[in-house]
Amino acid sequence: MTKQPAGHLWWQRGVIYQIYPRSFQDSNGDGVGDLRGIRSRLDYLVDLGIDAIWLSPIFPSPMADFGYDVADYCDIHPLFGTLADFDALVADAHRRNLKVILDFVPNHTSDQHPWFIESRSSRDNPKRDWYIWRDPAPDGGPPNNWLSYFGGSAWEYDATTGQYYLHLFLKEQPDLNWRNPQVQAAMLDVMRFWLDRGVDGFRVDVMWLMIKDAQFRDNPPNPAWKPGMMPHMRILEAWSADQPEVHQIVAMMRRVLDSYDERMMVGEIYLPYDRLMHYYGTPESPEAHLPFNFALVLLPWDAHTIAQTIAAYEALLPPHGWPNWVLGNHDQPRIASRVGEAQARVAAMLLLTLRGTPTMYYGDEIGMRNVPIPPDRVQDPFEKNVPGEGHGRDPQRTPMQWDASEYAGFSKVQPWLPLADDYRQRNVAAQRNAPHSMLSLYRRLLTLRRSEPALSIGSYQAIAVEGDDTARQSVLAFVREVNGCRFLVALNFASHPARLSLTTIGEGTIALSTHLDRGGSTVQGDLELRADEGVIIALAP
Ligand code: NOJ
Repeated sequence: MTKQPAGHLWWQRGVIYQIYPRSFQDSNGDGVGDLRGIRSRLDYLVDLGIDAIWLSPIFPSPMADFGYDVADYCDIHPLFGTLADFDALVADAHRRNLKVILDFVPNHTSDQHPWFIESRSSRDNPKRDWYIWRDPAPDGGPPNNWLSYFGGSAWEYDATTGQYYLHLFLKEQPDLNWRNPQVQAAMLDVMRFWLDRGVDGFRVDVMWLMIKDAQFRDNPPNPAWKPGMMPHMRILEAWSADQPEVHQIVAMMRRVLDSYDERMMVGEIYLPYDRLMHYYGTPESPEAHLPFNFALVLLPWDAHTIAQTIAAYEALLPPHGWPNWVLGNHDQPRIASRVGEAQARVAAMLLLTLRGTPTMYYGDEIGMRNVPIPPDRVQDPFEKNVPGEGHGRDPQRTPMQWDASEYAGFSKVQPWLPLADDYRQRNVAAQRNAPHSMLSLYRRLLTLRRSEPALSIGSYQAIAVEGDDTARQSVLAFVREVNGCRFLVALNFASHPARLSLTTIGEGTIALSTHLDRGGSTVQGDLELRADEGVIIALAP
């Protein structure tokens, strides 16, 4: 029976699962995933044990940036289906107690959006000011030195009207002018359109970039830039990101959500913690429910760094702020490729036992890895713009590996991106009943988390590890507790064994090991962790 104290909302207790719709399930044989495909896999997601799905963009789009270039915010791209398919997906998901979160892309539209087509048509068009237009610099060049995330200047010259427009991403993704009240009203209406259709929340794309300096001042150079870093990092985003006025916009979005029941937003924000925390807003003027915390995606994988980071995050969270953690997404290398398969299991245990809402990335539950993409199959515009520097995101966007059949059960035809070489071994069907598989580990972790409120809403207390050298250097340990029910989580980041002393912590029973083989055994005094092993121990009262 679920022991569930009241007072926490679904997005605090639950686990979010990100679906990249192009790659989850193709239902109509065009090699690209779609909404009917997702619908046909809902039972898998229920069985896995997640609570909410977040869909990367599914709106009409020329697909210059695979849907992050939206040409109509209030419809569905025919590749993915229709509004009726979407309604059916939401209804089916809700029947299964799954929430549905959409990707909202407010910073920029497609250059094919009717608003931009109007805006670029003449300087006196009523939509001119909906985007960010500036005169050329005196030498005819771009108005300032701001850079695009995907390489080159963030400004594109438009000969028709003799001005430049701003695009922090592709030139096919012009930035909206969020200082314009008409833009604000139109975009808040977009939110209402989907909320009225029953969506449970939004993941908001590049939330921290939505407002730019009113004077468009030059950004300072970044003395720490080195080859290999993202191209826009040559300059510091002092004037093009994280501007104070952005908080009024996020608060406005929040007010729309709060006029509905239990809806939420998670903001994509890549900022240091001290800046990130501002996106929770204040109790009087709340902002994002969950400003994404990307530390586990970005930091070196060692126990010491992670322990310090968790401590810093917990210490900086405002009292009204609910934490969250992420291991991967469609922009970042897969966790199993970053840390290796054995540590990916430890990472799964960490993600699903830390205090805060976890967001999983499709396929990580079967240990999918980055798939090398031959040059003639590259799709990602980032890789095409800046080839060979390792920025391409196709490797982490490859089709879900459902079974060992041709095209992995994803499609009946060659998929839009190549399948992993090892998909015949690494797939859902092969792992579903294999007692020690990654999928079994994820299912067990999710089941335990659901049945033990200490692991979702309990308090978090770091433990100073005592024991042998490996334990002290490479083991991360913490206790989660609710209503006197306590769990110790101990994770060995090393590829050799560690012995911990439990004398100050107490004794207990292993609820789960990442090795899935010693649940139920009692531990007292010392805890032996094998190489790359994590355990969750139910502590005796
Ligand atoms: C962040 C998204 O996650 C990424 O995939 C996209 O390319 C940019 N924002 C631009 O929308």
